[in-house]
Amino acid sequence: MNRILTFTNARLIGLARLLTVAIMAAGMAGLSETAAAAGGEVNLYSYRQEFLIRPLLDKFTAETGIAVNVQYVKGGILKRMREEGEAGVADLVLTADIATLSQHARADTFQPVKSAVLEANIPARFRDPEGRWFGLTARARIIVYSKDRVKPDEINTYEDLTDPKWAGRICTRSSGHVYMKSLLASIIVAKGEEVAQGWAKGVKKNLARKPQGNDRAQVKAIWQGECDIALINTYYLGKMQFNEAEPEQKEWAAVIGVIFPNRDDRGTHVNISGGGVAKYAKNRDNAVKLLEFLSGDWAQEYYAASNYEYPVKPGVAWHPAVESWGRFHADEAALSEVAKQVPLAIKLYDRAGYR
Ligand SMILES: [Fe+2]
Repeated sequence: MNRILTFTNARLIGLARLLTVAIMAAGMAGLSETAAAAGGEVNLYSYRQEFLIRPLLDKFTAETGIAVNVQYVKGGILKRMREEGEAGVADLVLTADIATLSQHARADTFQPVKSAVLEANIPARFRDPEGRWFGLTARARIIVYSKDRVKPDEINTYEDLTDPKWAGRICTRSSGHVYMKSLLASIIVAKGEEVAQGWAKGVKKNLARKPQGNDRAQVKAIWQGECDIALINTYYLGKMQFNEAEPEQKEWAAVIGVIFPNRDDRGTHVNISGGGVAKYAKNRDNAVKLLEFLSGDWAQEYYAASNYEYPVKPGVAWHPAVESWGRFHADEAALSEVAKQVPLAIKLYDRAGYR
């Protein structure tokens, strides 16, 4: 069964080990300022908050002498880069979802990179054949359901969500969001335009409410009894199950069951967070070095675990919580092919009147 993921041979690792690694990295941070002058710098635009990735970046600095300056840009990195043009300071961009990464490529804000390290570490389906974007962590788009009101064997596939028996029972976020665009694009790749159009129309018909909210809001809506079925990214399971700051989210997560769809055919849609080197990077070589570092074993384990995601590099251990959701059969379609269908996916939602 070599179709069961290419994330193979991963071992279960202890939380203690991750913690040790974080402490080691934090210890090395002290060295970075003196070392930084020697290696120059790299400027990063990141959708992920700096405090989450700082230990990772400090270890990079300790190893290479390259200082990393981070600007946290939650949304609108592309808009900002277009406005800044050649004057922009970004060398490397870290963002999420193939729909966003490919939008950068189409808008010509990334430059092609050729790197034997990146090609060895990152499976081909998780990177652009032209080297403009590279996946660094992976997440699956799963179906979640009310354990009280739905039996898990009633749904096996994304396509099952169009069954009229779910009328008034499904919640999703807006079709304008990249997670929704990419999922429909993956259906176009697997089944063609006609089936994908039918999916958009069929799911829209079954909606319990106007599309709204983020992934966690869909789970909350199940908890509140507003709907019975929703689509979310896997890492939100971890973010809710272990949310000490907002413990009510643990209650939301406790009422849902999890389905990895299409396990008996093409597999579950897997998307990425990733990066690309800015077209006008002034520190291009350092940006490539940072990308290469992020694709290596140590960083892969740490970076994926920090957000309950899957490493893209085969053989790297999964966070124990992520491991607890189970190994699964992933859709192995190349994300570069999925990316090509995103513009059509937008049209199909539009034609379906899916807001
Ligand atoms: Fe997300």
